[in-house]
Amino acid sequence: MSLFSKRCSVLLIGCGNMGSAIARALNGAMANLALTVFDSDEEKAKRLLGEQLEVRIVSDCAVLGAEQFDVCVVAVKPGDAVRALLSAQANLQASLIISIAAGTPLSSLERGVAPNSRLVRVMPNLAASVRKAISVGYADGAMSSEDREFVEVVFGAIGRFHWLISEDEIDLATAITGSGPGYVFSFAQHLQQAAEQIGISKEAADLFARQVIVGAAGLLDQDARSPLELKQAVASPGGTTAAGLTVLEQAEAMPWLLRQAVGAAAARARELAIEQN
Ligand SMILES: NC(=O)c1ccc[n+]([C@@H]2O[C@H](COP(=O)([O-])OP(=O)(O)OC[C@H]3O[C@@H](n4cnc5c(N)ncnc54)[C@H](OP(=O)(O)O)[C@@H]3O)[C@@H](O)[C@H]2O)c1
Repeated sequence: MSLFSKRCSVLLIGCGNMGSAIARALNGAMANLALTVFDSDEEKAKRLLGEQLEVRIVSDCAVLGAEQFDVCVVAVKPGDAVRALLSAQANLQASLIISIAAGTPLSSLERGVAPNSRLVRVMPNLAASVRKAISVGYADGAMSSEDREFVEVVFGAIGRFHWLISEDEIDLATAITGSGPGYVFSFAQHLQQAAEQIGISKEAADLFARQVIVGAAGLLDQDARSPLELKQAVASPGGTTAAGLTVLEQAEAMPWLLRQAVGAAAARARELAIEQN
């Protein structure tokens, strides 16, 4: 039976920062949705989801009896994922199970799921809360094309989604998509500090740094030109931007730093995956 044509029942386990963002997006994206949220802290889940969301919230899967769900989204901390899946296993006998637990491989998640379920791993990022996330996903051959489409709809509702061809790529992508917002915040922080250093007030420096990034991000989002083309368009020869870029783009400056930062993040993602397996 199609996940799209009939009433689609979804069990969301864990309603924290990421789970609540996914719940809100799902609610907006799917007309046929019947959403149940399972979180150990029912009051917190209610508070995060707000009044207007049509959702059933439970703090114990026992109250669900033998009710079956088409789809389960696992949004608890990595260390809680298998235990949470085991506690809901009776309700997920033939479900599509989507885990967003960072660094938790499919082989670990399999310990918590029924034999007939289909598993997919997705790594969203912090921008899910403003529906500008980039999420990457990996699933093995057991997924149907409809399952894949469902994942694309869910994570398309919080931003953009991209399939990976091997599970190892999740650790590599995490160094860019997961950690990337942190790099950009660091850039904003240091741009603000540099602005203050040349005599701009703290408030104005904060405003300038934020809005420069928001504006450039808007162009990257809406303008088909590549980052290189956009950069060339604002850097006329002999001008102020070219002068700044000459410093920033020295071989040992930003290009080297970014390669080092991404390499360190990818190595750490691999270490975390090994620790959790
Ligand atoms: N935040 C991000 O930017 C981000 C990005 C990519 C991936 N992720 C992944 O998303 C997952 C969730 O992250 P988060 O930041 O949203 O975490 P969070 O805010 O801590 O939310 C997790 C929620 O799950 C609840 N919970 C824990 N164990 C449970 C269980 N056995 N059954 C039911 N509910 C349970 C927690 O309740 P208590 O607080 O009472 O324990 C909490 O409300 C993590 O695995 C993380 O790796 C997060």
